[in-house]
Amino acid sequence: MKRAAPEKKGRHPEHLWLPYTQMAIETPPLEAVATQGARIRLKDGRELIDGISSWWTACHGYNHPHIRDAVTRQLESFPHIMFGGFVHEPAIRLADRLIALLPPGLARVFFSESGSVAIEIALKLAVQYWVNRGETGRDRFVGFRRGYHGDTLAAMAISDPDTGFHDRKHFSGYIPEHFFTEIPKSETDAAAFEDFLRQNRSKIAGVVVEPLVQAVGGMRFHSAKSLRRIAEACARQGVLFIADEVATGFGRLGALFACEEAGVTPDILCLSKALTGGTLPLAATVASAEIFDAFFAPDPEKAFLHGPTFMANPLACAAANASLDLFEREPRLEQVAAIAAHFQTALEPCRALPGVCDVRVKGAVGVVQLEGEVDHDWLRGRFIEEGVWIRPFGDMVYLMPPFVIEEAELGRLTDAIVKVVGEWSAQKRA
Ligand SMILES: Cc1ncc(COP(=O)(O)O)c(C=O)c1O
Repeated sequence: MKRAAPEKKGRHPEHLWLPYTQMAIETPPLEAVATQGARIRLKDGRELIDGISSWWTACHGYNHPHIRDAVTRQLESFPHIMFGGFVHEPAIRLADRLIALLPPGLARVFFSESGSVAIEIALKLAVQYWVNRGETGRDRFVGFRRGYHGDTLAAMAISDPDTGFHDRKHFSGYIPEHFFTEIPKSETDAAAFEDFLRQNRSKIAGVVVEPLVQAVGGMRFHSAKSLRRIAEACARQGVLFIADEVATGFGRLGALFACEEAGVTPDILCLSKALTGGTLPLAATVASAEIFDAFFAPDPEKAFLHGPTFMANPLACAAANASLDLFEREPRLEQVAAIAAHFQTALEPCRALPGVCDVRVKGAVGVVQLEGEVDHDWLRGRFIEEGVWIRPFGDMVYLMPPFVIEEAELGRLTDAIVKVVGEWSAQKRA
């Protein structure tokens, strides 16, 4: 049924090209002028409570003084220096700290600036790892249905081609073909998955998975056991296990890392998003000692020839170090547990609404899954009227708020979801 679209106020900025937007028909963006804690202030004076932490990054809320001070100090010292030929204390310290926090076995950190690039680097490392070991022809990956790993071409190529976020038909022939399968949920699935690896091992460089939660592909959860089955099958079949913790890393699901919750150590692990507490662009591709050793030889051809201009930017590394301080000093994981407990009760009323097919919670991720037509523009507009920033995508409305969100603010978010999804459901029935 057709519902009234919210009035489209204003125009798109004349010279900006906006992400994931059909600018000819979609409502223009809001103009933000300030942020604080879990709040975003708009140019017109309104204030929104942020339900999605700026694409899941702002885990400590906005403008945390500890991160701001660390970045300011670094800015006064030096904002950037090329990483080719130089290193610096913020990067050395950050790498040491990440290795100490990540599952044991990971040993080397390669920095870049975005999640997609961290994935590109992981894929290149995996392919060259086999070449360096004298096994050629292993340049295919196994990805999972509903997986998403970024928008650059190689990252797109291992994102689900059918239910994914991208319209792959525009790029067919341009991106490599990989293998896709379901996350193995049972013993039988796991045996079939392992069989597939065994049969195709000579072509496969690695398996790429978003551990425990497939985010962009629909906030689908799988168990720690499923993840362990994937990791164990990879280990037995001699295929690299690559974990994309770009969305799940840094406490979002309850443990600091999803791999830690499942007790698995990947060969390569990717981080970004909350790495700097949502302040500056930074990503890390972290490899095991065994991967690194395959590149470490008196042979220039075995070196990894990759180096983004702004890799390991000192400001971003200072922000990331300050963010890790906050995980040490402030009760972030307890806050995540409290958010999870709130979601469990406060989102539950949605379950009874016609048109809602699931309500699920994992850590500070709360999902209300809808069926049938979902008018994102209408939902987004109604949420803004309710004073909250919630950006539905696919067939769901979800929350991933800053961990520091106050109880009353969290209540405003969940109340808005119950109310607006209720309206959506009633209109759907009408
Ligand atoms: C699991 C996962 N991997 C990779 C990416 C890509 O990160 P970026 O947008 O920083 O390139 C995303 C982005 O949402 C993601 O959720």
